[in-house]
Amino acid sequence: MKLSSYVTGMVGGEETDAWAIHSNAQNRRRSGEDLLLLSIGDHDFTTDRRIVDAAVNSLRAGNHHYTPSIGFQYLREAVAEFHARVIGEVVGPANVAITPGAQSGVFAAAQCLLDPGDEVLGFDPMYVTYMDALEARGARVIILPLFAEDGFLPDPDRIRAAVSSRTKAIMLNTPNNPTGVVYPRETLEALASICVEHDLWLISDEVYCTMCFDTPHLSPRLLEDMAERTIGVYSLSKSHAMTGFRMGWMVGSEPVIQAAGDVMGSMMFGTAPFIQDAANAALTSAVDVVDMVRDRYRQRRDLICDALEALPKINIRRPSAGMFLMIDIRGTGWDAIDFAWKLLEEQRLALLPGEGFGKQLAGHLRLSYGASDEDLTDAACRLSAFLQKNG
Ligand SMILES: Cc1ncc(COP(=O)(O)O)c(C=O)c1O
Repeated sequence: MKLSSYVTGMVGGEETDAWAIHSNAQNRRRSGEDLLLLSIGDHDFTTDRRIVDAAVNSLRAGNHHYTPSIGFQYLREAVAEFHARVIGEVVGPANVAITPGAQSGVFAAAQCLLDPGDEVLGFDPMYVTYMDALEARGARVIILPLFAEDGFLPDPDRIRAAVSSRTKAIMLNTPNNPTGVVYPRETLEALASICVEHDLWLISDEVYCTMCFDTPHLSPRLLEDMAERTIGVYSLSKSHAMTGFRMGWMVGSEPVIQAAGDVMGSMMFGTAPFIQDAANAALTSAVDVVDMVRDRYRQRRDLICDALEALPKINIRRPSAGMFLMIDIRGTGWDAIDFAWKLLEEQRLALLPGEGFGKQLAGHLRLSYGASDEDLTDAACRLSAFLQKNG
């Protein structure tokens, strides 16, 4: 009996060396080893009590039945209001489809927009799961390199040159994981004009939109002629420290959202009602959590960057948003994967080699600062000790 070429040839696949370090560290910590794990993007915060109570109360009230595939109307309305407040775009509930996390939003967008043989333009570095989600429809992802020297921003000329008669969409992520870059208006306008010129869709993952520290987030949906061709993907995972709730949404034109509802019907058959009640509480009562999360991450970003800036032979790119810091270790002469393994063995600190996100991040390590001040200070000490011995 044969499995599909999608599962045998594409999705999941062999674990790369870069991710093996994270899995190794995670397994060892689970079996009791004392390791400092800053290789994954989860919060150390517990979800706000008001949100948890809303989920529990909802369950106790008997909300454990099937729900509309596209999401409850009251939640789509709450999302539309949140979107107007945070993104600055007035949309209605008909422009919103509820999805279990942004991950499902990207997957559903690919199902709605792509056909076998279509091409999607993506970038290196790129968030790991996009490739599998986009290729699930038989589309091909054409990867364009981003360069550290350009601040990891896409080059419009390179994008224009890569557009072919098969190109159907561009996959964008701002604020960006892993680089921490917030795309400026000029870059987004250049991308938008390519989309309009070549009649392309834009899948815009804006999951870190509430976690900007220096420059504000700009959604490409706000640019001229872009609302009808941009599918914005969002979630509560980062903004409200709700990663395990699996709650997100897509914002798009009504036909796309109707299609997304149908896709969600075939895939999920609706998001759990008590999770939708928790999301409603997050969006309507626990709104202050968004500022708390962002402010704490800004402090953490500053703490870890100030500590690492003083270390020899490494360079850091102070992220403008999100929860990750890229450390450029090219000055040490080490390969990032070797460096990360040895750091794990000698200092019991797990960081993720940049290769986990593409070739362009060779010579970099990604540090997640979703950890306490004590752990971040400790990580800086361990890295300093490692560099003293091996740098
Ligand atoms: C860029 C990006 N997109 C999507 C996701 C998945 O988010 P969610 O938990 O909302 O599915 C993540 C998670 O780390 C992410 O970093």
